[in-house]
Amino acid sequence: MISRRDFLKATSALAGVFSVHPLLAWAGESGLVISGEDGMIVRSLRFFDLEMPVEYLKAWITPVPHFFVRNHMHEPSTLDAAEWRVSIGGEVEKPLSLSLEDLEKFALHSVTNTLECAGNGRAFQQPHVPGVQWQRGAVGTARFSGVRLRDVLQRAGVKTTGKHVMFHGLDEVPAKVPPFVRSIPIEKAMDADTLIATKMNGAALTKHHGYPARALVPGWIGAASCKWLAEIKVLDKEFDGNFMSPGYRMPNQPIKPGEAVKPEDTHPITALGVKSIIANPSDGATVKGRAVQVHGAAWAGEADIARVEVSTDSGSTWNTAQLGKEQARYAWRLWSYSWKPAKAGDFVLISRATDSQGRVQPSSAVWNPSGYLYNAVDQVKVHVEA
Ligand code: MTE
Repeated sequence: MISRRDFLKATSALAGVFSVHPLLAWAGESGLVISGEDGMIVRSLRFFDLEMPVEYLKAWITPVPHFFVRNHMHEPSTLDAAEWRVSIGGEVEKPLSLSLEDLEKFALHSVTNTLECAGNGRAFQQPHVPGVQWQRGAVGTARFSGVRLRDVLQRAGVKTTGKHVMFHGLDEVPAKVPPFVRSIPIEKAMDADTLIATKMNGAALTKHHGYPARALVPGWIGAASCKWLAEIKVLDKEFDGNFMSPGYRMPNQPIKPGEAVKPEDTHPITALGVKSIIANPSDGATVKGRAVQVHGAAWAGEADIARVEVSTDSGSTWNTAQLGKEQARYAWRLWSYSWKPAKAGDFVLISRATDSQGRVQPSSAVWNPSGYLYNAVDQVKVHVEA
């Protein structure tokens, strides 16, 4: 149950993108899943979490209003771009404090990246795990532009003791909640595609996505890409706050549901796994006609998609799907398969991706207590009408 204060905060955040629907009040109290005006699924009002309905996945680049939103805290209530600065400190020779104007003096770089929340698909974990019950749509692809984090760190001069880079955003942290602070290894921070991004799909970031600047750590779980950046600190070791440990960690070995795992037997989650989802037909749909366009998207974090296969007979036989022409190093590939059902009836359609590292989407996901990195083959049930 959300508090009235949280509800008012969340609805005022929603008002930025949708006109607030009267249903919201009722749904907020009951905790039901409801839709905003753009049809996004509101997964949480307390901290404003929006999921893209999978049917919206039609284009390689996700329009910003359809891009999922994941907040662990309240979004900053005031953000003044003219006043905004990001500090760069810690294990550096020359600490910096940069304004947006200062950032614009660095070379501009763009990366088309598929951003996926580590908890996407959690709702499908069996047995059930707690947390935001994302289904397929806590994922989207956008062209992020900004400056290379590497260029900024080099200007500050990273000392040889610098091993991790910590990000801290301007989230408003409720009492008793640890702040959303995480770190990435220095090697990933110095990668030519890791950004301090100020733009998404060619326009300034919207508030929901981290305005005026966010980290963009391509190919990695969304949690690595800190929004509303205020502080970048080079550390001599991995940051050890709540969102690094126990948050966002996986057991080193698969564990049984309910089995305890020691912190030293876990590791932080970094890059995304191999995964595909079916966008059309929807689960439970009735389809007509002799040709059904089955389509979706597939991604693999830092690896490339090698192939997507589709089964229309519950996994007995597999057909190669056609991959879309549009591609970029960290971006998903759209795929499609033209299915000609031989008869009317009920069918289970399954998609399965394989990546350039030889990883194949598994038939069931590795169970873990937080339901991270769910990537089992996707399946939908459809009824074909005569
Ligand atoms: N950055 C801050 N400051 N606060 C947050 O709560 N959420 C993270 C990440 N960056 C978060 C954050 C998580 S868990 C994800 S999945 C992505 O932002 C989501 O980015 P988006 O909301 O732009 O889609």
